[in-house]
Amino acid sequence: MTTVSAPGKVYLFGEHAVVYGEPAVPCAIEKRATVTAEPRDDDHVRVEAADLSLNGFVVEYAGSTDDRPDVDVPQPLLDAAMGYVDAAVRQAREAADAPEAGFDITVESEIPLGAGLGSSAAVVVAGIDAATRALGEPLDRREIADRAYRAEYEVQDGQASRADTFCSAMGGAVRVEGDDCTTLSTPTLPFVVGFDGGAGDTGKLVADVRALRDRYDFAADTVGAIGDIVSTGEELLREADPNAAPSDDLIAELGDLMNINHGLLSALGVSSRSLDTMVWAAREAGAEGAKLTGAGGGGCIVALDRTDETRTSLRYTPGCEDSFRAELATEGVRVEEDE
Ligand code: PMV
Repeated sequence: MTTVSAPGKVYLFGEHAVVYGEPAVPCAIEKRATVTAEPRDDDHVRVEAADLSLNGFVVEYAGSTDDRPDVDVPQPLLDAAMGYVDAAVRQAREAADAPEAGFDITVESEIPLGAGLGSSAAVVVAGIDAATRALGEPLDRREIADRAYRAEYEVQDGQASRADTFCSAMGGAVRVEGDDCTTLSTPTLPFVVGFDGGAGDTGKLVADVRALRDRYDFAADTVGAIGDIVSTGEELLREADPNAAPSDDLIAELGDLMNINHGLLSALGVSSRSLDTMVWAAREAGAEGAKLTGAGGGGCIVALDRTDETRTSLRYTPGCEDSFRAELATEGVRVEEDE
């Protein structure tokens, strides 16, 4: 039995634009998905989801995943969760050259589904690592990241960048530009997350931005301007001492860039009333900057604030269901138990 966990993430800058080859800087946070894999004697896969911010469920299937029993979970959520687990199992079977391998899989996650915190990437990264280790064929982090990207790409019909999966596998802050993925040494930033309890449809939001970008040159320029924000922010991070607390100037300047980034994402149509309300509540509480994180449409915002003011204010903001401080997860995918 092998148990592996992998972190979720927030986007400091660059979601959506990263799909078109602009750079992005996601940061891993200490909210984890944990996957346990136990090889079976047959080729069946049994999945037990203990907590995916939805009712737990158990599904067992063999061969095609179409022949699943009925379970007491809304079908779209089941399809989404199962699609990622299936894709992770396929990648693990291929990597270990064990096409018939069966598994009992348990998934637990502290990361809300579809809320911009990289829940699916964390499940896929932890799933591939757990399943390949359980077969005695562990992969290095970069290969886990690469296979997890391929799994997401397949499930999301090609609408995926390498950002979530690379960040979850490696941990810390990372920079992703097309296929070029690097880790960044950064000071620990004081992230606060606000969650509206909802979720956005990543595939649809990405398709909507693509349509806007194809139709209007100024929308394409907006995507390019997000890339410029990322380059400016990244430069600030590279100049900072990663071992010291971030300076007031650094936090203030990163905050300004986050505010502009949010405005541009809003212009591209991917914000929502609840996300905007939380962003403004954070700014009014004294956050240095605030923006939506991930695909948008609903889900989470991320703010920079050293004090507790933003968290407290978000707690009393209508439409905000949860708020918490998000520590940078310096460790990416990690083995919790291997026996
Ligand atoms: O909402 P999330 O965590 O799935 O993030 C989506 C980020 C996008 O840039 C919109 C798409 C991607 O794959 O990079």
